[in-house]
Amino acid sequence: MATFTLPKNSKIGQGQTFKAAPGANRTKEFKVYRWNPDDGANPHIDIYELDLDKVGPMVLDALIYIKNEVDPTLTFRRSCREGICGSCSMNIDGTNTLACLKAHDEVNGAVRIYPLPHMAVVKDLVPDLSQAYAQLRSIEPWLKSDTPPPPDAERLQSKEERAALDGMWECILCFCCTTSCPSYWWNGDRYLGPAVLLQAYRWIADSRDEYTGDRLDALEDPYKLYRCHTIMNCTKTCPKGLNPAKAIGEIKQLLVDRKG
Ligand code: SF4
Ligand code: SF4
Ligand code: FES
Repeated sequence: MATFTLPKNSKIGQGQTFKAAPGANRTKEFKVYRWNPDDGANPHIDIYELDLDKVGPMVLDALIYIKNEVDPTLTFRRSCREGICGSCSMNIDGTNTLACLKAHDEVNGAVRIYPLPHMAVVKDLVPDLSQAYAQLRSIEPWLKSDTPPPPDAERLQSKEERAALDGMWECILCFCCTTSCPSYWWNGDRYLGPAVLLQAYRWIADSRDEYTGDRLDALEDPYKLYRCHTIMNCTKTCPKGLNPAKAIGEIKQLLVDRKG
């Protein structure tokens, strides 16, 4: 019988419990993944019992409260606090989402908080997104045109051309979708994943871009694009309500169409 050995640091232990101050009337537990690359220990779960009368409504408010008032060693990313920067993406109660848009009263019982899944961890709730950013760079996410812009004017679009970008320009590159995609879990070194493919289609669909053919050539690859098997986790999890699976389908359709 085959035996499997779990990789080093994959077993998660139990950490400390921080109780709310005596006298708290409304409390809730937040069970938070902790890992410190500097101490050589396995990851563990710390439990923070918070007085909800002192904490704002969102999971990010709870994390900020923990860091400021209970345990300054807790590490996580955040910036805008309103679903715009994409920094606070993490796995909350089993779903990838933005901590600043997720209300903790939506979760029954303890709130379980982990980093985005299937990525290396830098520390605690901070995933290593280096590979995803390199993949984003590889699709050249900027306007490419050989025609100079009109003198003293912008490159104009019709209302319809502009509307063709709806559902894509709103992407905040939080990578909730990419890290929920089983194809990316297994082939993330070669498959670009839904966030980057949505960005690729955003530039393919832009009427002002003159490199559509080159962009499609670069994606016509058994791994970069075709590892998408339409499992739809990406669309289900996107905290901005976008549909990366549809964008991937549009790229595949364009590749079919151009073969005539
Ligand atoms: S539809 Fe494609 S990109 Fe989205 S989760 Fe499924 S395989 Fe991944
Ligand atoms: S498509 Fe949605 S989940 Fe994916 S990176 Fe963009 S905003 Fe985040
Ligand atoms: S802090 Fe910017 S999206 Fe949550």
